[in-house]
Amino acid sequence: MRLLFGAACAALTSTCLASPGYLKLDIERRTPSEPRLVRRQNSDGSVDTVLTQNTNKLEYLVNITLGTPAQHLAVTLDTGSSDLWVPAASAPLCKKGGCDNGVFDPTLSSTYTVVDQDGFNITYAAPGDSDAGDWATDTLSVGGSTAIKKQQIGVASTLFDPHGVMGVGFDTNEANNPSSEGVYPSVMDNLKSTGIINRLAYSLYLNDLQANKGAVIFGGVDTTKYTGDLVALPLQEGPEGIVSEFYVTLTSVSFTDETGKTTQLSPDGYAQSVLLDSGTSQTLLTDDVFNALANGFGAVGIGQGSYVVPCRFAKINGTINYSFGGDGGVTIKVPVSQVVGNQDFTAENFADESGGCDFGFGPPIGGFSIFGDTFLRSAYAVFDISNSVAALAQAAENKADTSSIVVIPTGTTIPGATVTATATGTQIPDAEATEEPAVPSASVQGTSLVLAGTPTFNIGVQSTASTAAAAASTSSSGRANAAAPTAALLGLGLAAGAMVL
Ligand SMILES: *[C@@H]1O[C@H](CO)[C@@H](O)[C@H](O)[C@H]1NC(C)=O
Ligand SMILES: *[C@@H]1O[C@H](CO)[C@@H](O)[C@H](O)[C@H]1NC(C)=O
Ligand SMILES: *[C@@H]1O[C@H](CO)[C@@H](O)[C@H](O)[C@H]1NC(C)=O
Ligand SMILES: *[C@@H]1O[C@H](CO)[C@@H](O)[C@H](O)[C@H]1NC(C)=O
Repeated sequence: MRLLFGAACAALTSTCLASPGYLKLDIERRTPSEPRLVRRQNSDGSVDTVLTQNTNKLEYLVNITLGTPAQHLAVTLDTGSSDLWVPAASAPLCKKGGCDNGVFDPTLSSTYTVVDQDGFNITYAAPGDSDAGDWATDTLSVGGSTAIKKQQIGVASTLFDPHGVMGVGFDTNEANNPSSEGVYPSVMDNLKSTGIINRLAYSLYLNDLQANKGAVIFGGVDTTKYTGDLVALPLQEGPEGIVSEFYVTLTSVSFTDETGKTTQLSPDGYAQSVLLDSGTSQTLLTDDVFNALANGFGAVGIGQGSYVVPCRFAKINGTINYSFGGDGGVTIKVPVSQVVGNQDFTAENFADESGGCDFGFGPPIGGFSIFGDTFLRSAYAVFDISNSVAALAQAAENKADTSSIVVIPTGTTIPGATVTATATGTQIPDAEATEEPAVPSASVQGTSLVLAGTPTFNIGVQSTASTAAAAASTSSSGRANAAAPTAALLGLGLAAGAMVL
């Protein structure tokens, strides 16, 4: 069905073209800024500098415009939160040139209205990560869509994050807001109420690490972007006891090496609720699974929940297989090449000739198991807020240029999903939330980070340097934890609203 939008469309301008019932938006993956030298104090008081690149926080950005006339910004697309906020041009960080994806200047917009001065404050799960300022409304356009008038937004002048976020979760998970109803119409709600989409649902294809471009399709599914069938998974209750986030039931995790040998990493009867969150870079596994996986790879901690492995591990042919939903469920195979991230340490600063690369996993933060980009890159995911369902299939690799989009209609069917897998999952008990993972920290020798572990998995590509490093680490083991090289880290987890409800 073709929809038309109001009188202005008589002019048939490009924004007035009939809506096909969905809205496709490109997602761009970016690696933040240049490598930088990080000062590091050793336990004996001496100071080294280590070349590091704060790169495990890969960014997945979409373009929006705000205000009249339109101001252009790129913001993180975040399935794990529900507010749209942008950095204010007046923020000290932006004035220093630290806001690399555009800023919003309310004084230049004739349609800008303040709703609650200083009332906006969103806090994400990563330590210290909050952004605060005013609640306001203004005209929004995403992907050249029909303008959404009076979209409520946060305009942040106190920044932790250098660019804004478009949360596309449940409106019931919005951050603190002044509306007496408790929620305000989110971007998702307004895409539906303006007739751009039929249902509060969208599909996400981040695409693999070798590609720079993925897509989110509001109101549609692209059947060329996955293999096998989509399997529907009823959403599970979050920590606050209601369904207001994309928690699905993870029932098995295993590693299959290049010879086909499989090591089971999760215990029998495993049924863990995990949050599908595009705003987090890593995959945060329960401690038991994380320990088995990290030690299998000989990963070492570098502080703040970050772990590194030799970069050459990116070339091995193993996969990490995740099963969801129990019987009749779906298995997503994540190649190791998709989880060994960018280089954090050069060969000179790391005890392996291939350098040290980000290992895309961590222990649960604040007791939440979060499945971020190092998982989502290998999945095609449909997020259906209206029916509290997420559907998953194996992503087809690097299919940026194909397209066959089916509209998600009103009602409950998800195109391509015929099976529903219903295993229920539980949250991590509070008692286990503060456990320290049993994975060694990197130690320091001279200006090098030293590997403390030897992989227990069959990793293939071996290197003499790693053996030397393992020996060296023994002699300096008393200095474990000395290295905390960077404020690398975790992207956006849960909105504060979710944590205090
Ligand atoms: C966003 O806009 C910029 C500038 O027009 C363009 O270079 C970039 O490719 C766009 N990104 C996406 C994801 O559409
Ligand atoms: C926002 O909230 C966080 C968490 O409560 C707090 O630490 C921070 O100081 C607040 N920011 C502002 C600018 O009020
Ligand atoms: C991985 O598999 C590819 C294709 O089968 C093969 O060419 C390559 O040599 C393998 N790499 C390793 C390290 O075994
Ligand atoms: C995991 O995925 C690999 C690669 O597709 C496959 O060979 C293996 O059989 C899978 N293992 C399990 C336990 O499903």
